[in-house]
Amino acid sequence: MKGKFISLEGGEGSGKSTAILCIQAWLESHNVPFIMTREPGGTPLAEEIRQLVLNPRDEKVNDTAELLLMFAARAQHLSEKIQPALEAGAWVICDRFLDSSYVYQGKARGGDTQQLDLLSEWVVGDHRPDATLLLDVPVEVGQQRIVQRQYQDRLDKESLVFHQKVREGFLERAHSEPNRVTIIDASVSIEAVKSQIENQLEHLFQAWCGGK
Ligand code: TMP
Repeated sequence: MKGKFISLEGGEGSGKSTAILCIQAWLESHNVPFIMTREPGGTPLAEEIRQLVLNPRDEKVNDTAELLLMFAARAQHLSEKIQPALEAGAWVICDRFLDSSYVYQGKARGGDTQQLDLLSEWVVGDHRPDATLLLDVPVEVGQQRIVQRQYQDRLDKESLVFHQKVREGFLERAHSEPNRVTIIDASVSIEAVKSQIENQLEHLFQAWCGGK
């Protein structure tokens, strides 16, 4: 049987790293074969593109260049890692995927949605996530968490207004596709976040595998 594809989304400082550890532990305890991966990145070439597009630099990065680099990395990642893993029956847990492009390059940068639709159709086609967990926190909370980090990438350093649009963009996508996207309230305690994630995984596991 083909594997299942779950993406994890959220703004800066929404606690994706903790969520990933929780998902990993849950899948292991249920003997589900899986791989963990991330975007932009996930293969050697795509990780090189990640450095190119996310490292802070003096030169202004053109919005179209940023968008195309995200999709170039995605094309490589999908064909060389995600699709083979799904074909082999593994679940793929991906830290960010297509929603991030719609939200960061579309909503926050003001990119054209029709162009995003065209690129998505071309690069991703039907290989969309079966389910998405959206970690939602107020922007101020996320910002407080990231200022404590030693390394901040080019997008972490964007304005508060940019990050507000990111949060709004994710919530809009969640509301427009409620069957795929589950909002996780990530402003509560770690234990409470974990239990929301575990409940949703349990629900998906029952729906997809009948609990087996
Ligand atoms: P993160 O994995 O540490 O969250 O960093 C990835 C950054 O890349 C984050 O700021 C969101 C950004 N990003 C986009 O702007 N567009 C995309 O399509 C993806 C996958 C990520």
